[in-house]
Amino acid sequence: MHHFPKDFVFGASTSAYQIEGATREDGRGLIYWDVANEGQPEHLHVQTGDVACDHYHRYKDDVALMKKLGLQTYRFSISWVRLFPHGHGQPNPLGVAFYHHLIDELLAAGIEPAITIWHGDLPLDYDRIGGWANRDVIEYYLAYARFLFDTYGSKVKRWFTHNEPWCAAFLGDDDFQVKMQRSHHLLVAHARCVALYHLHPQGNGEIGIVLNLEPQYPATYSTKDAHAAQLVDGFLNRWFLDPVLKGSYPHDMLNQYRRNGYHLSIHEGDLELMKSYPGDFLGINVYSRAIQQFDPLNQLLEAKGVRNEQATYNEMGGEVCPESLYDLLHRIHREYDGVKIYITENGAAFKDDVRDAQGKVLDADRAQLIEGNIASVARAIDDGVNVAGYYVWSLMDNFEWGFGYTKFFGIIHVDYQTQVRTPKLSAEHYARIILAHRVRHQLR
Ligand code: FCB
Repeated sequence: MHHFPKDFVFGASTSAYQIEGATREDGRGLIYWDVANEGQPEHLHVQTGDVACDHYHRYKDDVALMKKLGLQTYRFSISWVRLFPHGHGQPNPLGVAFYHHLIDELLAAGIEPAITIWHGDLPLDYDRIGGWANRDVIEYYLAYARFLFDTYGSKVKRWFTHNEPWCAAFLGDDDFQVKMQRSHHLLVAHARCVALYHLHPQGNGEIGIVLNLEPQYPATYSTKDAHAAQLVDGFLNRWFLDPVLKGSYPHDMLNQYRRNGYHLSIHEGDLELMKSYPGDFLGINVYSRAIQQFDPLNQLLEAKGVRNEQATYNEMGGEVCPESLYDLLHRIHREYDGVKIYITENGAAFKDDVRDAQGKVLDADRAQLIEGNIASVARAIDDGVNVAGYYVWSLMDNFEWGFGYTKFFGIIHVDYQTQVRTPKLSAEHYARIILAHRVRHQLR
């Protein structure tokens, strides 16, 4: 058995747009997903979060369920447009009140609120001026963050600046140059937000960024495959880890991009700022690993992903490999000066097609994956890696962006017709681990 340190916390994560619903209520403004269907021909209709899990109206029941599972902390995001329908201006009192109620409910249940300031839902008004590619958005983001610290800072002591800046910067079909620039603006915004928090009268908690990391392994021992894995690692992982934790972009990637005609525009002082304000911890979302093979046809990264024929894959096409989480934690510890780490998201989508007579989802695959990953965390802690908490993604099934309601990540099942929530087998299993505050050794 591995015993967790006393102050290690277990929780679950969600994000505003994926669970709240009530998108046209109480003065909330609009984001891209609200209007994704507008002007689309019939066959292109996408699902939206209009109702989602109706958490906006059911948050009390949801907190009660969290309490029943024994969660110690809950990571959720604030919908920027619920507070500021157009991104800035006068705050909307109904939106402000909603998050006060949610936070108060959590505190009353003995669950630590942990807030993501921005989880992918930029006000539509800012998308229309170029989104994060426009440097001005940094100022709007900081004004919004300041308002959050003023308003909720006395009650909330763990903050996350951005969720997955890689996704925010690099997904979509713009030019690579634009994507790179977006990533830089996100990173500058992060550092400035950390500075803002540390100077804030209520800034006596902790704040950090949340990166999505995917460890890359070479397909063979050849130097070409090693090079391929190194470049993809640079693109996905080091491009964010290095500026956040060392205040510099990786040289191999800057060179690689330059060779392909892409140049990053960095203002004077940006890197110094990043170096001075890394944050108090690093949040990491980890779902899988990947294996890379040299591919000369891919000019930018010289790599292509290959499958591991021996492995099990989840419903998102990711390999199930808890061992890689252990490797990743070690590597971060070693290369980034023992930084304190929270696993801010971990989990998987599975088919969820096995049920018992009462209709409970028997998701043994998810239960096993969660336990395997938690055991990897425990082993890393035993070795001296500084991991302070683990959040499962997700508390409940929800709106999975471009996949709508077709992918299930929850440890709680949601019937979207009736909105009835039913904990799955994985939730019960996770609750037992939390209660025991220890996890079994895994056979390797
Ligand atoms: C992460 C996102 C989260 C959710 C999970 C499955 O990339 O942060 O919103 O979609 O994946």
